[in-house]
Amino acid sequence: MLFRSAALAGCGSSDKLIMGTNAAFPPFEYTTSQGLVGEFDGIDVAIANKIAENVGKELQIEDMEFDGLVASVSTGKVDMVVAGMTATDERKQSVDFSDPYYVASQVIVVAPDNTDITSAEDLKNDKTVGVVLGYTGDNIVTNDLQLAEDKVTRANRGIDIVQDVKNGKLDAVVIDSATGKALAEKNGLKIVEDPQAFETEEYAIAVKKGNTELLDKINETLSEMKASGEIEQLAMEYDEKLAENNQ
Ligand code: ARG
Repeated sequence: MLFRSAALAGCGSSDKLIMGTNAAFPPFEYTTSQGLVGEFDGIDVAIANKIAENVGKELQIEDMEFDGLVASVSTGKVDMVVAGMTATDERKQSVDFSDPYYVASQVIVVAPDNTDITSAEDLKNDKTVGVVLGYTGDNIVTNDLQLAEDKVTRANRGIDIVQDVKNGKLDAVVIDSATGKALAEKNGLKIVEDPQAFETEEYAIAVKKGNTELLDKINETLSEMKASGEIEQLAMEYDEKLAENNQ
């Protein structure tokens, strides 16, 4: 079992590489009885393990709300954020990002029998829409689609807000593609894609501004993993692993 106390993370012990994440984002990070690192598992956990190996430290994972991740790395509470985080211009003002390691886009999760939401535009027809606070999906729904505030519900975890589509409290959830697919499968829901409305997003690892030493190591590990096909392999493996767990 790993220590997860903030106090320990803050002491900056040099034999540990501390990863900040929000482990409610399968297949990138989630908790399970037997994870890769303690209770934590997922594509990002596997990548972070390789980075830790490369820097010769033991990986320690700090699980927190997504909305607090940028602050936690920029204040040095964690060494890096590996959280399926989209490298947005806004975030680039506060942290430095690695090279991208995954391309995603947003999708709409709806009930299996839903027929009146077939595009992002349809969400504007008085639909109740859930997002996760601070995710790029929140930004898109709020600023690009400009949905009425009283139609938007913001949750702290994707795995919770998708439940609200299942139990009929919300018409739709806008969330990242791989996670949307995983959560839709798990809950018997379906996804609607709209590549015209939802641009592609690149996931990258965030470090404190100016931490080039760690950033170089991260990029080195990522470029090896990309060249060897390991990241694609992980994406396939975790898709299968999650699909099996749903049966
Ligand atoms: N890609 C989206 C963003 O950067 C969502 C990431 C959510 N990640 C997580 N570990 N919960 O805003």
